[in-house]
Amino acid sequence: ATKEIGQDLISMGLTKKVCVVTDPYMATLPPMKAVLDSLVAANISFEVFDQVAVEPTDASFQVAIEYCKKNQFDGFVAVGGGSVIDTAKAANVYMCNPNADFLDFVNAPVGKGLPIPGKLKPLIAVPTTAGTGSETTGVSIFDHTPTGAKTGIRDRGLRPVLGIIDPDHTRTCGPELTAFTGLDVLCHALESYTAVPYQQRITGAPARPQLRPAYQGSNAISDIWSGFALQQCSKYLLRAVEGDPYAREQMCLASTAAGVGFGSAGVHLCHAMSYPISSCVTNYRPLSGYNQALTTATVKKSSEQIKLKENMVPHGLSVVLTAPAVFKWTSVADPERHLKAAELLGADVSRVKAVDSGLLLSDTITSLLSNWTAFVPNGLQGVGYGSEHLESLVKGTLPQRKVIEVSPRQPTPEDFNKMLEDSMKLF
Ligand SMILES: NC(=O)c1ccc[n+]([C@@H]2O[C@H](COP(=O)([O-])OP(=O)(O)OC[C@H]3O[C@@H](n4cnc5c(N)ncnc54)[C@H](O)[C@@H]3O)[C@@H](O)[C@H]2O)c1
Ligand SMILES: [Fe+2]
Repeated sequence: ATKEIGQDLISMGLTKKVCVVTDPYMATLPPMKAVLDSLVAANISFEVFDQVAVEPTDASFQVAIEYCKKNQFDGFVAVGGGSVIDTAKAANVYMCNPNADFLDFVNAPVGKGLPIPGKLKPLIAVPTTAGTGSETTGVSIFDHTPTGAKTGIRDRGLRPVLGIIDPDHTRTCGPELTAFTGLDVLCHALESYTAVPYQQRITGAPARPQLRPAYQGSNAISDIWSGFALQQCSKYLLRAVEGDPYAREQMCLASTAAGVGFGSAGVHLCHAMSYPISSCVTNYRPLSGYNQALTTATVKKSSEQIKLKENMVPHGLSVVLTAPAVFKWTSVADPERHLKAAELLGADVSRVKAVDSGLLLSDTITSLLSNWTAFVPNGLQGVGYGSEHLESLVKGTLPQRKVIEVSPRQPTPEDFNKMLEDSMKLF
């Protein structure tokens, strides 16, 4: 439980110079109070960094990195959603490698994709959304503004040493935030479950273990986690959005399970296309739950370096908008597996032939989304895209090589164009 976090730090030998990382809105919510009370009770000396940007950028990462380089912390506690946990991971990497250039560890082709040398400081993650599973992964994602696409740092060394999954912390998430973060869980589970089997990965086996990709393709262990997460989403996502406390708790479990699954197998095409979808947005913002306005105001005040976008497509939404088109297209690679995924998601497969599994999976996702037309936009058109944007969306997708590589079927630029076109309208 969160109230034990002070004791957890003591048992790791971390009693001073701890950095508590959060975003300006989370800083005002009960999970932060629970963490800080525990640290005070355990006599831990700490500093709070509360300037995390929601859907972080290279610029917002830099502010956290500079702060941590200056203070040279002994360890980190991240309290928040994926934006917070990912920012803490990046701050840890560059604080421990102060002479590295920012792009050194960032995925190629945007960065150099170098493996991170040496050990990082311990990071404890306290997730407050049931979404990213970032508490389990060696992944840190940000929006690289110069190229207009999200990218990240992927390295096993980034993985938090401890995740404290306390379902109470998601109590303050409204319906829209619960749905969008839950849809991220759903896509993590579906993409990792349908990822290319690791023996068939197009990149083959690595020359040495350090070069093993973070996303390896589906395997017997990741299937257990991803399959379980699919079942959890089928049983609990709708009810969690309605506010049912038991269902919320079960979605926390789903989020962490899906994190373990995709942290090993990887995610593929929905995530690949989501990166330009969220980077290039110009006139959409969620109705509620994403406190970008508050974040923008506070972060700007403290640092002129950051210019946050006020428009945003929340991560889970950016991922799910292409999911119906993606699974219709990938199912050809392994119809049986797609049928199994649909079954785990609660679809009736008794009279469906494997060749129709892509269609069934696609319909299952669309019909789930149709429960929330009050806040789920109708496809890419609903977040401001039209056919005139297809070319730039494809261009922003192609560099996402590490995720595309684990797709069960390798798309050409024309295939991406068609999937994006098919995602313009969902209902
Ligand atoms: N590292 C990974 O493995 C991984 C995986 C998937 C996504 N991501 C990244 O994570 C980010 C998205 O993270 P997220 O979906 O968890 O949301 P988030 O961290 O961006 O937070 C979204 C909004 O919810 C608010 N919020 C968070 N917890 C709350 C709570 N308990 N009650 C009320 N409001 C709360 C935040 O203040 C913010 O305004 C994206 O940048 C995405 O790319 C990372
Ligand atoms: Fe995700």
